[in-house]
Amino acid sequence: MTTLKVAAGIDIGGTNCVFGLVDRNGRVLAEDSLSTPGYPNPADFAEAVWKKLISQSGRLKVKAEIAGIGIGAPMGNINKGTIEYPAGLPWKGITPLADLFKSHTDRPVIVTNDANAAAVGEMIYGAAKGMKNFVVLTLGTGLGSGFVVDGRLVYGNDGFAGELGHTTIKPGFSERECGCGKKGCAETYISATGLKRTFVKIMADSLEPCELRKISFDKLDSHMIYEAAVKGDRLAKRAFDYTGRMLGILLADLVAHTSPEAVFLFGGLAAAGSLIFEPAVKSMEENLLHIYRGKVKILPSGIKEKNAAVLGASSLVWAETERT
Ligand code: BGC
Repeated sequence: MTTLKVAAGIDIGGTNCVFGLVDRNGRVLAEDSLSTPGYPNPADFAEAVWKKLISQSGRLKVKAEIAGIGIGAPMGNINKGTIEYPAGLPWKGITPLADLFKSHTDRPVIVTNDANAAAVGEMIYGAAKGMKNFVVLTLGTGLGSGFVVDGRLVYGNDGFAGELGHTTIKPGFSERECGCGKKGCAETYISATGLKRTFVKIMADSLEPCELRKISFDKLDSHMIYEAAVKGDRLAKRAFDYTGRMLGILLADLVAHTSPEAVFLFGGLAAAGSLIFEPAVKSMEENLLHIYRGKVKILPSGIKEKNAAVLGASSLVWAETERT
């Protein structure tokens, strides 16, 4: 019986960690998830994910060998294999994530930023195939960004290029605190959690009836706000409109940096479709420098049914194993 080499792709988010086994052609053979905050100790997390990967590989119909592990994570650093001071994760300071996985396997372990992994996934398997200049924004618990310029993913001097979520969209006197310790960061407005914060503020300022008033802050999530907006709730629609307009300003600024052909929107907020795309595109066009107007496509991910970050993270393994 021949052995199939598979790559493990892991996408670590502030709420969920999704992981899977992917073959050389980008077929996801197994996928599973666990709650990231459920593992306050990163060593326990690495052990739990590794055990699940092993049992996934044992359940495949073919005999499989895990050729390596690719990980996309907030503040993931490809140069050092670390996660450093992530805003939305339970692990504080510097976590040597690659080493924690290497205590279970002698195969290569590559850690990179989650939005960078999504950009690689989109480039190899998604709608950015053949594109040389594009940006991926992940709009989930946080706001991540991966930049591809002239056909190459941009890592920068220290591996941390493209942290748009922590650029200041509102100046220091804004009272909105960010998990990174700063105030007024783009992700405090432009993310699933940012939408929720905006919505609650809009509700507090308004006397209009709204069925979500009875939900406590902890229980409220962006999907409930989406469902209310779809049913016509005016406050929910206003929250999407505000978030979309903020996103448009961010898009207009990022276009000025690298002049992309397209920007792909990922994650929970992007799934809200026209509720977020329409105000975002309108506000981007209003704020763009005239040389860029009408040229930049704002698109959903081309990898709909699968996780682009899992796919992208897994593809890092092939790049590594075929290089060495
Ligand atoms: C982190 C980024 C990450 C994004 C999405 C942000 O808070 O700083 O590194 O890509 O969240 O997870």
